[in-house]
Amino acid sequence: MLPSVMDYRTQARKRLPRLAFDYLEGGAENGVTLRRNIAAYGELEFLPQVLADVTGCALGTTVLGATAAMPAIVGPTGLNGLFWPDADVHLARAAHQAGLPFVLSTASTSLLEEVRAASAGELWLQLYVQRDRRIAEHLMDRAWASGYTVLLLTVDVPVHGNRDHDKRNGFKLPLRPSARLLLDLAAHPGWCWRMLRGGGPQLKNLAVSSNAREDITEQASALSRQMDMALTWDDIDWLRRKWRGRIVVKGIQTLTDASRARARGVDGIVLSNHGGRQLESAPCVLEALPEVAAELGQSIEILVDGGVRRGSDIAKAAALGARAVLLGRAPLYGLAGRGPRGAGEVLAILRAELENTLRLLGRDHIGALDGAAVRRRRAIFD
Ligand code: FNR
Repeated sequence: MLPSVMDYRTQARKRLPRLAFDYLEGGAENGVTLRRNIAAYGELEFLPQVLADVTGCALGTTVLGATAAMPAIVGPTGLNGLFWPDADVHLARAAHQAGLPFVLSTASTSLLEEVRAASAGELWLQLYVQRDRRIAEHLMDRAWASGYTVLLLTVDVPVHGNRDHDKRNGFKLPLRPSARLLLDLAAHPGWCWRMLRGGGPQLKNLAVSSNAREDITEQASALSRQMDMALTWDDIDWLRRKWRGRIVVKGIQTLTDASRARARGVDGIVLSNHGGRQLESAPCVLEALPEVAAELGQSIEILVDGGVRRGSDIAKAAALGARAVLLGRAPLYGLAGRGPRGAGEVLAILRAELENTLRLLGRDHIGALDGAAVRRRRAIFD
């Protein structure tokens, strides 16, 4: 096991071709939001209480009706097959072993039924709604029949974010085998071999194309071309009719929208700027968390994501009022850096760090974390 999540990131960077690593890591435009997501955790400091008997240390909680071994969920990330063959099968297994729910992306490269068959754990479905609503309806029917319990509607992608690195790398339609790309691939024979053996990643859950030979970037682009830009709050009613389980709206960034979501009767929200990959200079949602939690925390469950790289980050989010965090890049660093076992190792590291933090904070269970445990860092000697 490596010491920290960021060590897995270093491994991932070595093992992936640039095209794939940049897609994993990159943010929109200048990366301001991406960096702020991470920096925000550094702006908070803990207020420990000492001599508090921390022999016991209970991290478990419940999130949207599911039990979770700690307040974290393996969040939805699309095109994971670019990082490892059958990536979502491995991620779902790792999540289950760690006692955490796993969210499968609409843009998964594994069939949702395959993922179900591979894991007895708690599975949720993330939904992108495309113009042809039958695609979403079909996906929901299949997911419900397979025992997926929670639907996360992602609302911050009416169009794709503007990502320079993907353009630079030719990660767009059509993928042209440039000299740069071929050199990049030649330097990563292990990755090429795995991709060839696994048949290459494909978006398996969507009928985006009848042409089976379309490459993954064409499919991804087709996915974004077909995204339903006309989606509104009224469509939550449509989802309510189609989905019998809990509904969560992912991608809320302001208190105003959080209140709208509550008024529509959803069960939860994820405060998220999509890991800084969508709207550049989107707000740092961690900052909005305390007021959203104070206003709405009694009536809906509030989750948050973006920038979680340490167990102590999970503790900070919980102290500010989040029911749980979603992990985006962290498990992907594990998977891309060290294969399936790496994903499990990253989750184990986060758990161990959270436990360590809680004890050092003088709290013996996760529910004991509240606003008294953190504060915004002040300038030294101000
Ligand atoms: C994502 N994210 C995402 N979200 C979603 O709702 N559907 C998706 O298909 C994807 N795809 C995706 C791919 C990759 C490579 C990344 C890194 C992210 C966003 C994800 O769920 C989450 O909001 C962020 O990743 C959280 O930020 P961190 O933890 O990555 O900093």
